[in-house]
Amino acid sequence: MKIQDNYDEQFIIYSDKYEASRVVADEMCNVIEEIGLAGGLPVLGLATGATPEIIYKYLIEAYQKGKSFAKTICFNLDEYYPIQKENPNSFYYSMYKQLFNYIDIPDNNIHIPHIGTLDTPLHDFCKDYENKINQVGGIDLQILGIGENGHIAFNEPGSDFNSLTRLVDLDEVTRKNAAADFGGVSAVPNQGITMGIQSILQAKKIILLAFGENKGRIMNRLLYEPITPDLPASFLKLHSNCQFVLDEACAKNIKYMDIT
Ligand code: F6R
Repeated sequence: MKIQDNYDEQFIIYSDKYEASRVVADEMCNVIEEIGLAGGLPVLGLATGATPEIIYKYLIEAYQKGKSFAKTICFNLDEYYPIQKENPNSFYYSMYKQLFNYIDIPDNNIHIPHIGTLDTPLHDFCKDYENKINQVGGIDLQILGIGENGHIAFNEPGSDFNSLTRLVDLDEVTRKNAAADFGGVSAVPNQGITMGIQSILQAKKIILLAFGENKGRIMNRLLYEPITPDLPASFLKLHSNCQFVLDEACAKNIKYMDIT
């Protein structure tokens, strides 16, 4: 893959996260519409965390206004390991709470890399997750957040360009950022199951969202630093159809951007 000449032009700034989320939710609905009209099954790649929360609210609104998700297939990026579905901090729980409970997507179309118990053969599970993505023709639109350490999904600094779905150790920064939700860093799982860098780069279109001042520093690094496993999101600069969607609060910390 070749670095895209124009990746900096793919930084798109909206006044706030609500406007940005509206545009992205509309784009997800358009993908569903267009692929559905062509007789295909749209495949969305979804993230958890604070960043996509508003998008999911808008998707629920779209459903309430008549949009159907009955033929949409979803793959989530990652999940803690081990964790139980009933744990409110599991990505399984939060996806149902924030979206799946409120739209008409069938359970069979929902894929989350959730295992839950230590006994499941992990290697087979991860291979099967990749196979499932390939069997439905790959991801049409992948939504991503970004960690303050530059991770995408749970691809922490040091992740390999060729990585696929696998079990990983979580970075200390990731675990510290999750500590408040879990009631202390020691309660945060040490590991996670995540789609790999390659699994993500194979999506036909990718939108990474970064909202708020806290994400300014990492987006600044992403814009200016070379592609390196130390900044896993930098691999996205190799993708020919990737957008970086920011709100002004984030963009004001990026040095060259004049948003006045
Ligand atoms: C979650 C995920 C993570 C988050 C990232 C940002 O599925 O893939 O990489 O996108 O940690 O999290 P928030 O959105 O909470 O700032």
